[in-house]
Amino acid sequence: MLSGHRVDNFSIGTARAEDVDEIWAIIRTSFRGSHSPYIATGQSGYRSYLEEMLHDENESNRRIVVAKESGRVAAFADVTLNTASPNFLSRIAVAPLYRGRGLATRLMKEIQREIGTTSQWELDVLHSNSSAHRMYRALGFRTTSTKKWIGRLIPANDALDPETNSVHSAADQAYQRYGFTRVEIQDRLASIAGTAVRCHDPGDFLDNGFLAKVRDGFPRVDRAFIISDARDSRVPILPDMFEIARSDRMIGTF
Ligand SMILES: CC(C)(COP(=O)(O)OP(=O)(O)OC[C@H]1O[C@@H](n2cnc3c(N)ncnc32)[C@H](O)[C@@H]1OP(=O)(O)O)[C@@H](O)C(=O)NCCC(=O)NCCS
Repeated sequence: MLSGHRVDNFSIGTARAEDVDEIWAIIRTSFRGSHSPYIATGQSGYRSYLEEMLHDENESNRRIVVAKESGRVAAFADVTLNTASPNFLSRIAVAPLYRGRGLATRLMKEIQREIGTTSQWELDVLHSNSSAHRMYRALGFRTTSTKKWIGRLIPANDALDPETNSVHSAADQAYQRYGFTRVEIQDRLASIAGTAVRCHDPGDFLDNGFLAKVRDGFPRVDRAFIISDARDSRVPILPDMFEIARSDRMIGTF
């Protein structure tokens, strides 16, 4: 827990349910790239997900930490604290009015000082996000690998398979409520957000039969994507595929 430490004019502490609208407003203004339809934060239901997460007694090692000025959220960070592996920074964002004043840097340092379990951190940042890249490099992070996000359209289904249809999107409460979910279809894990399924294995991504089953269960899903190492030759960019984004995995100690 981190409660109300003051750093300059900012009070830094763990987010509460009543902070959800201000955090959500920062998310909407800060993360609007071409990749957003493919991820959980790009779905309108992410606000409800966040609210419920902040409401529940948080027993996991995930924390949303906010920096407030005069009671209003100026910045937040979504972090997962680990002991056997590096901590993970899922996202950090500063409301536009407060940018360029060192707030993100102060927030990260305060998190590390107060609740950091290990001094090692990992994160993913889009290639195109040059200000975030510069900030992470200034904090001492370096790139360890580059990922490519490759998408393809799923061929339309001629007939719905009644067997997979039992995993229908209507029965998936998370998908209904938040617009994203994790599912197991044919013993394979997949993450669904909006109209896209993220495959976690190149074999699944290239398997039309598997993708057809996903589409049976989730008829709105019309595209698949995979995030793999940029050098991974198992995921070639074929004519029916498109590159969504590139991101860097970075590691840093502070
Ligand atoms: C990236 C972001 C979090 C930086 O927040 P911030 O409070 O403005 O960052 P800081 O003032 O702490 O900047 C720290 C360093 O980052 C770099 N930096 C930050 N913003 C920059 C910009 N727009 N242009 C160039 N460098 C920048 C600088 O090196 C800066 O150090 P300096 O001021 O000593 O030169 C903020 O721009 C933001 O919220 N962006 C949208 C969300 C996002 O992209 N988050 C990161 C990906 S998860």
